[in-house]
Amino acid sequence: MCGIVGYCGQKRAANILLEGLKRLEYRGYDSAGICVGTGTDLKCVKKKGKIRVLKGIVPQDMPGTFGIGHTRWATHGEVNDINAHPHLDDSGKIAIVHNGIIENYLSLKEMLISEGYEFKTETDSEVIAHLLVDRYDGDLEKAVRETVLLLKGTFGIVAVHADEPGKMVGARNGSPLVLGIGDGEMFLASDVTAMMAYTKQVVYIEDGEVVSVDCDGFRTSDLKDREIAKQVDHIGWELEEIEKDGFTHFMEKEIHEQPESISRAIRGRLNLDTATGHLGGLNLSIKELHAIERVKIIAIGTSYYASMLGAYLMETVARIPAMAEVASEVRYKNPIVEMNTLYFVVSQSGETADTLYAMRELQRKGATVLGVCNVVGSTIARESDGGVYIHSGPEIAVASTKAFTSQVTVFYLFTLLMARMRDMSLDRGLEIAKALQNVPDQIRHIFSMGNLIRDLAIKYSWVENFLFLGRGIQYPVALEGALKLKEISYIHAEGFSSAEIKHGPIALINEKTPSVFLVPDDALRDKVISNLKEVKARGGKVIALMV
Ligand code: M6R
Repeated sequence: MCGIVGYCGQKRAANILLEGLKRLEYRGYDSAGICVGTGTDLKCVKKKGKIRVLKGIVPQDMPGTFGIGHTRWATHGEVNDINAHPHLDDSGKIAIVHNGIIENYLSLKEMLISEGYEFKTETDSEVIAHLLVDRYDGDLEKAVRETVLLLKGTFGIVAVHADEPGKMVGARNGSPLVLGIGDGEMFLASDVTAMMAYTKQVVYIEDGEVVSVDCDGFRTSDLKDREIAKQVDHIGWELEEIEKDGFTHFMEKEIHEQPESISRAIRGRLNLDTATGHLGGLNLSIKELHAIERVKIIAIGTSYYASMLGAYLMETVARIPAMAEVASEVRYKNPIVEMNTLYFVVSQSGETADTLYAMRELQRKGATVLGVCNVVGSTIARESDGGVYIHSGPEIAVASTKAFTSQVTVFYLFTLLMARMRDMSLDRGLEIAKALQNVPDQIRHIFSMGNLIRDLAIKYSWVENFLFLGRGIQYPVALEGALKLKEISYIHAEGFSSAEIKHGPIALINEKTPSVFLVPDDALRDKVISNLKEVKARGGKVIALMV
């Protein structure tokens, strides 16, 4: 959740860093800070709370044309000014920002303390600043390389040194880092949104790489200092896409973007003559697709619920055994790679560590893994063996909305492709293809009921516990609904298969715990309605969404 931005150029660095941090605000944070090099020393300002609070205490005329900034989401140590990044070493010469978790920080800290270093913060990140100063002999890039070799865990790091003005050195392992190439100015950030106002030319830094940057250019190398040639990519998004555009917040904007984002996910991928899906990026021939005997889909959070829905579709519609698994479990369970199995990893950001590491482990064991990602050029998109972009456009809100519906759309397309290669008739295929094309208009229709939905929200705003219940294809939707309510409204919510409530959860039903029922228009309709009646019989209030 943390964010990094670094700048070197001719402009006042403090302003650019603060603006970059503001753009990263959407990721969530609890404190923020910047550190700017003046040419002789480093000036650091950091503060618990919002960026506007930080902005208020950064001197307006703060000099310096290079520096680093950070938004922190506390993991090690409480939320306070001292634990906020950047972290300086004792001499105040070196400053670092870090995203990720240093797993061996305790042993490194003990070692550094025994060597006389004093720690000011409770963070895992501070060890990096002390290790850097310990290794520094006039060459920051070399010190970063040597430090990184001692670290275990995940990191995206950027460091600056007072004696090397105009230079930043970054390194990554598992946390994203991207270089932006401007006109006489350079950026390093955890996310392209921090630099998009200045440049769209970017270089993605990979795990195990070190990048050394000044305003004239950059050098990338591996941990053995072997130079690596990098490709410069162009960001396809426009700046307006990462602005609120009149909406109160990004989540509201992104909910309203769904008719368009779903249309984009479908565009060019639906063949109405043959009633099938066309997904060029899969990199699999018809023969290879035919050889698939089962599908496994790996993801986390909202992407996992979209994957559950995708697996359900593949099994029930295309008749291919399919299941979704949580990436954090797959990663650590020494997963079995089965023959003739197609693996998907699903990730909006394309950077989620558990999903990425699960993918690498499966690939290491010989699996073919396809990515379903939104962020073009993200690590999962680059490292997967093929895949499909969902083309949602930037999802700035931390709470995923339009990505979920586009991920599901892509799974409909894949299911249609597989089903039509097997035994689905042209007529049935056409029915599904046309239904898919109608989805954007159906969503617009739901927007026309905005007032009704708002009234319902107000009516139930006093409630502290909610249940979300659905069956079949609606079961993962119920889980996603519960996740969204707790994440955004801080209201406790649980999702269940409505068939499961009588096996325990029914004990929770009372007049203070309403249930949102998703009632499908299929063979399970009557069963769900009967579950709904059970809830009502116990005095539970019901909000039913009838499909
Ligand atoms: O970027 P990813 O799809 O890999 O992210 C995975 C989850 O962290 C994410 O889906 C999360 O659950 C949602 N943002 C919650 O709304």
